[in-house]
Amino acid sequence: MPVLIDIARLATCPPDGGPDDIGEVEDAALVWRDGVIEWVGRRLDLPTRYADEPRQSAEGALVLPGLVDCHTHLCFAGDRADEFTERLRGTPYLEVAKRGGGILKTVRHTRAAREDELLALAQERLDRMIRRGVTTAEVKSGYGLSPEAELKQLRVYRQLAAETGVRLIPTVLAAHAVPPEFAGDRAAYLGVVCGEILPAVAREGLARFSDAFVESGAFTPDEARRVFEVSRQLGLTPKLHADQLSDTGGGALAADVGAISADHLEFVSERSIRAMAAAGTVAVSLPLATLVLDTPPLPAQALREAGVPVAVATDFNPGSAPVCDLPLAMWAACVRQRMTPAQVLRGATTVAARALGIQDEVGSLLPGYAADWIGVDRRSAEAWMYDFAPDAVTQTVVAGDAR
Ligand code: NIG
Ligand code: FE
Repeated sequence: MPVLIDIARLATCPPDGGPDDIGEVEDAALVWRDGVIEWVGRRLDLPTRYADEPRQSAEGALVLPGLVDCHTHLCFAGDRADEFTERLRGTPYLEVAKRGGGILKTVRHTRAAREDELLALAQERLDRMIRRGVTTAEVKSGYGLSPEAELKQLRVYRQLAAETGVRLIPTVLAAHAVPPEFAGDRAAYLGVVCGEILPAVAREGLARFSDAFVESGAFTPDEARRVFEVSRQLGLTPKLHADQLSDTGGGALAADVGAISADHLEFVSERSIRAMAAAGTVAVSLPLATLVLDTPPLPAQALREAGVPVAVATDFNPGSAPVCDLPLAMWAACVRQRMTPAQVLRGATTVAARALGIQDEVGSLLPGYAADWIGVDRRSAEAWMYDFAPDAVTQTVVAGDAR
């Protein structure tokens, strides 16, 4: 039963705290058994029953809950570097997509890739995420868009979780785009989504959540409603890519279908914010995508004042957010969304865990929670975000094991 000492400062990030409550403890100790936290507090208060247990040194680090990246598109093949330049020259994201680029370009590459190739690509990206402090990640399909290719992506996640021990929470995103073979017949594709893909995913237990992209060029609110009705019947909880490029009433739709989160929300309306607050929907902010696409940040202050918890995630994907760096997303959430370092730390730990329905298991350093923690070479969360450095995370630990 290891006792972690030499912790200059620790943040517990309590699940029921206010937006700025990170539960800081100075000169702390952390005790876990079989991967689960048993005691946390000031070292001076360490109970004598732990006196003979082996000590482990945090070497004066700041110790935080392992980070939870609650929105990623980790599994895909190929890249879209050419589109990056094209967009910088002024072609809008949806225009690039209309010309055959965008999501459908990645779909072509992902369909053509073998499962073992996808696994190797995803593994390398996950390693980078772990080095930056991620211990839990939500992982979406959505670059297959056929029964076979969607299941291929989700199986990659299952294997990746088994091989790395990192907590991966899979989401089926078959309603990401209409694939080319159904270009003239959206209804037929939705028939495949609802009649084949979702049932097969549920049968094999390959996903916990079901997501849809509601936007012009993607799916309408009514189409998403249908996807979510079927999802619910199959035990898949809704999530939603909402109001990213325009206000489609996505936030209110998410609230209405009982989605656990509405993600993006750059163009969310006041009405949607009220609906989300009433329904308890978590807002997932994706600041790296707003930097890449040069879109406005989501209204974090209005969401917070309405009582909607705001999570922070990377949205890692080959188009709008090709950077799998959650601390960088947290920093961007500070400077672009005017969130405090404490708010973004909660946003990437306990609030992110809430967006995945696992806020009683991970995202906080409290008794009964997983011993998932990171060591950061900074004196406080505030100092970490202030002079942001890419290598500040020095240790990532999952269930008590160093990664
Ligand atoms: O979250 N908005 C839709 N889906 C992704 C982008 C996917 C892509 O461009 O490949 C997103 O931004
Ligand atoms: Fe996304």
